[in-house]
Amino acid sequence: FVTMSWMIATKAARGADGTDDRPKDVVAAAIVDDGRVLLAQRAHPAELAGKWELPGGRVESGETHAQALSREIREELGAEIEVGARIGAQVMLPNRLVLHAYRARLRSGTPAALEHLDVQWFSADELRLLDLDDVVPADRDWIPELCAILDDA
Ligand code: CDP
Repeated sequence: FVTMSWMIATKAARGADGTDDRPKDVVAAAIVDDGRVLLAQRAHPAELAGKWELPGGRVESGETHAQALSREIREELGAEIEVGARIGAQVMLPNRLVLHAYRARLRSGTPAALEHLDVQWFSADELRLLDLDDVVPADRDWIPELCAILDDA
């Protein structure tokens, strides 16, 4: 039975063409500094271009969420972060991606838009004024909690 279960599980995890269709984690950072949170404006794909997101990316195999997030922020923003507590609820994305967000603090460097159109620090009041149409859909539900975090900061 154990062998059968394993075979079924293995089969379920591999598509007919050998591709892996297990859920994949994506991590995003709420970098908070001086009472503001950093949002990054996506450059692609076309339907998300110009919309603000918490910066991050896919977790590679063998990486912890914190390692993946530190790597993504180094690659995308040229800054070093310390990853803190999880925030918000996880969000299911298309293509079996699952999005998770974490608080983070800057360790060194100044975040720059190396792969985004722009990066900008938002206060709680500025977040409240942000048009949700200008936010990546998956990140919209996190805005109230981000405001609360900044109100406490
Ligand atoms: O660069 P990489 O492919 O690792 O990641 P990405 O393209 O930035 O993100 C992977 C997926 O997660 C894309 O579908 C993004 O739209 C989504 N994502 C999101 O919805 N919200 C974020 N804060 C970050 C990523």
